[in-house]
Amino acid sequence: MVTAYDEPTATIADAAGVDLILVGDSVANTVLGYDDTLQVTIDDMERHVAAVSRARPECLVVGDMPWMSYHVSTEETVRNAARLIRAGAQAVKLEGGRKRVPAIEAIIDAEIPVMGHIGLTPQSVLAMGGFRVQGRNVDGATALIDGATAIADAGCFAMVVEGVPDAVGVAVTAAVDVPTIGIGAGPGCDGQVLVFHDVLGLGSRKTAKFVRRYANLAEDATKALAEFAADVRTGAFPGQAESYESSDELRHALDPGSDPSG
Ligand code: KIV
Repeated sequence: MVTAYDEPTATIADAAGVDLILVGDSVANTVLGYDDTLQVTIDDMERHVAAVSRARPECLVVGDMPWMSYHVSTEETVRNAARLIRAGAQAVKLEGGRKRVPAIEAIIDAEIPVMGHIGLTPQSVLAMGGFRVQGRNVDGATALIDGATAIADAGCFAMVVEGVPDAVGVAVTAAVDVPTIGIGAGPGCDGQVLVFHDVLGLGSRKTAKFVRRYANLAEDATKALAEFAADVRTGAFPGQAESYESSDELRHALDPGSDPSG
């Protein structure tokens, strides 16, 4: 699974053959310039899910439910999940363990598949006191496994396991009968997810330890734009190949002193 946020990123992800696209609320950091995901609204997510779905990806599109879209009431939760489905997602994702069971059950009751997300849940950054690896001690790990089994029993078809020691990734994967998708959870999960911009080296954010960068597009893009700017300044761009040709008649009419043969 990889994140995507708009038509071009979804087209690239789908062409690369990933199994799932997550329209993540990480759009906050990668695209919108926020420091955390708490600023993203259901309106934002609806717009980005719609942009991704306009790429008509063949793979499954999961829409991330933002903070406060599933925390107020069951009715609001289901309506917000439905907004992402109507925008083009085939499933929604929400963060949290056992306490999210009622929200998960209500959304599934409305026939919408739900992906869970446990461990380092970025929407809880304030409650966690920062972006900290979770489940580092036995009590914490046991609570995470309990949360994972609760949301699996509630009907989640898969779950993201984020920011936990590798042994916890293995234990959660063994404890549930649905696929786990790890991010900073070691190699023991069933699948893996990374953020599009992190994989491709787009953007200036410092990346987490668990990221592996497969390209450096920000550097390539900066170099390309610097070449474009230099070519404009020297007159090397545009050339004849990038210009619409004028007929001799038009050229002469606009500049009677010019050579009629061009
Ligand atoms: O929003 C996001 O990108 C996510 C992934 C990190 C799993 O939730």
